[in-house]
Amino acid sequence: MTQLDRDRVREHLANTASTQPILDEEARAHYRARIAEQLKARNAVLVAHYYTDPEIQALAEATGGCVADSLEMARFGKDHPATTLIVAGVRFMGETAKILSPEKRVFMPTLEATCSLDIGCPADAFAAFCDQHPERTVVVYANTSAAVKARADWVVTSSIAVELIDYLDRQGEKILWAPDRHLGAYVRDKTGADVLCWDGECIVHDEFQAKGLLDLKALHPQAAVLVHPESPASVVEIADVVGSTSQLIAAAQKLDNPEFIVATDRGIFYKMQQLMPDKIFMAAPTAGNGATCRSCASCPWMAMNGLENTLVVLKDANGCGQEIHVDPAIAERALVPLNRMLDFGAELKRR
Ligand code: 13P
Ligand code: SF4
Repeated sequence: MTQLDRDRVREHLANTASTQPILDEEARAHYRARIAEQLKARNAVLVAHYYTDPEIQALAEATGGCVADSLEMARFGKDHPATTLIVAGVRFMGETAKILSPEKRVFMPTLEATCSLDIGCPADAFAAFCDQHPERTVVVYANTSAAVKARADWVVTSSIAVELIDYLDRQGEKILWAPDRHLGAYVRDKTGADVLCWDGECIVHDEFQAKGLLDLKALHPQAAVLVHPESPASVVEIADVVGSTSQLIAAAQKLDNPEFIVATDRGIFYKMQQLMPDKIFMAAPTAGNGATCRSCASCPWMAMNGLENTLVVLKDANGCGQEIHVDPAIAERALVPLNRMLDFGAELKRR
């Protein structure tokens, strides 16, 4: 990430209100009931990411929505019969939902919820980078804007990244990868493919520290270490399992360890604890003093999805301006690599 991009991330965080109001149980129950009513009344469904507030995840489950990783969120929103999607996550997830279901109205509790990977990969600079390497197949991570996806041959999420790059490598293709340099290095290492990386990073995962992780592991010798591949290579090296959010949850279910040290956003503990109440989950240590340390194992943009703004959006016919719109020409181009991602993911599932 360039200094300019780091400044953009800082500026974005400084200009947005990331904290949700603290509500007592009575107020939370009130919001839950009203949101459930509104979802029904508007033929809407709540699609939430594992990193959102546990309250939002529980509500999505209780109202027939879904809590999932970014690939599954995309599938769920596309296949669900509701005419309106409320996407609780970050902006690229809302845009993906809209591109895959242009006939549906897609709202987010706040359009301010973005992602440092998206901010750090502006479409014009990315197009220039692609133009410099016309011989390479362009693979972009789902954590990008619609305009960046429109420039790509493939879109991919972390749950299928290694398999896709391996597949392309076996076709003899050289890869241009964006925007996460850690995930790019990880897939290069796993597949041996020729991968040229954009210099982007997730401010949350980039802060996990190998030294602190080793110290914590020494204190908990029975713990397995679960790491999201957006983390630095030095942290990935220590992992017992590396995977997307859903893969980390599945691994914790499969392993017999009584304790787990988890290097990803702590919102994932809601689902882990729900599925495995007898196991202990600990957040991996972070740098703790970085310039963007509002993250510290908690994505500041995911945290912007709360009960209050979800209800506000649902109560207004036009979602108080928090509706996702994607330029139709961009959407048409972005749909091609997005559909490739869904088809490739479905094919992997069938195997
Ligand atoms: P998943 O694709 O694993 O859900 O991750 C999305 C994300 O934003 C990770 O930081
Ligand atoms: Fe983006 Fe990182 Fe937040 Fe995921 S955790 S949405 S990659 S900033």
